[in-house]
Amino acid sequence: MANSQTWNPERYARNARFVADLGMPVVELLAADRGERILDLGCGDGALTLKLADMGCQVIGVDGSAEQVLAARKLGLDCRVMDGENLSFENEFDAVFSNAALHWMRNSDAVIAGVRRALRQDGRFVAELGGYGCCAKICKALVEALHRRGADGEGASPWYFPTVEDYSTRLVHGGFAVSSIALIQRPTPLPGDLTGWLETFAESFTSRLPPASRPSYIAEVEESLRPELCDAEGKWTADYVRLRFSARKQN
Ligand code: BEZ
Repeated sequence: MANSQTWNPERYARNARFVADLGMPVVELLAADRGERILDLGCGDGALTLKLADMGCQVIGVDGSAEQVLAARKLGLDCRVMDGENLSFENEFDAVFSNAALHWMRNSDAVIAGVRRALRQDGRFVAELGGYGCCAKICKALVEALHRRGADGEGASPWYFPTVEDYSTRLVHGGFAVSSIALIQRPTPLPGDLTGWLETFAESFTSRLPPASRPSYIAEVEESLRPELCDAEGKWTADYVRLRFSARKQN
């Protein structure tokens, strides 16, 4: 089934600003020089694209969401609607950068092939995505609550959270030398309750149900996770795991 996730820039800014705020380690790993030509793959609303532009890079952002691209363009950025599994650039970039986007692109071999085509000789691919085990507790609760409603829970997940071995092998087969790759446990405090996160990111699950049933589904998932992910002060922490890597195009 197609990924039914949609993006609303205001909702994203309210519930998910932390995604870009916590993206600085991958910006640092990119170590971009002024004047470098960078592709930001899955640029979203452009928060990190802007950081790269402010560092003096010539940056182009691409994202599958027209709404997010419009929000990014309002920041004065050169951003375009493009399918990450079907990139159309050739030999143009010193580096392809990506934060928190690749786990939405399930055909990773197509992504890697497009990134390789987009890069100049020796170009780098530096990215962070959800890694193996990311949001495992949240995913399990979403799946189980769908099962209780007679819906296919596993088939609803839009995400691909690879292991180090899986993604390294794909990079190498795709024509890259891996400079560094690691899985990082990153429990992530949420700015509000889990409902805000679920409403922002879990539409592929909720859309399996009729609209009238969705609020009680979300409430049930939140309640089932409260003992594990919410502390005594009511602060929610999501069980994020990141996969961060740097790779170089081989000729
Ligand atoms: C993220 O934005 O990093 C993310 C979104 C959904 C699930 C896991 C991670």
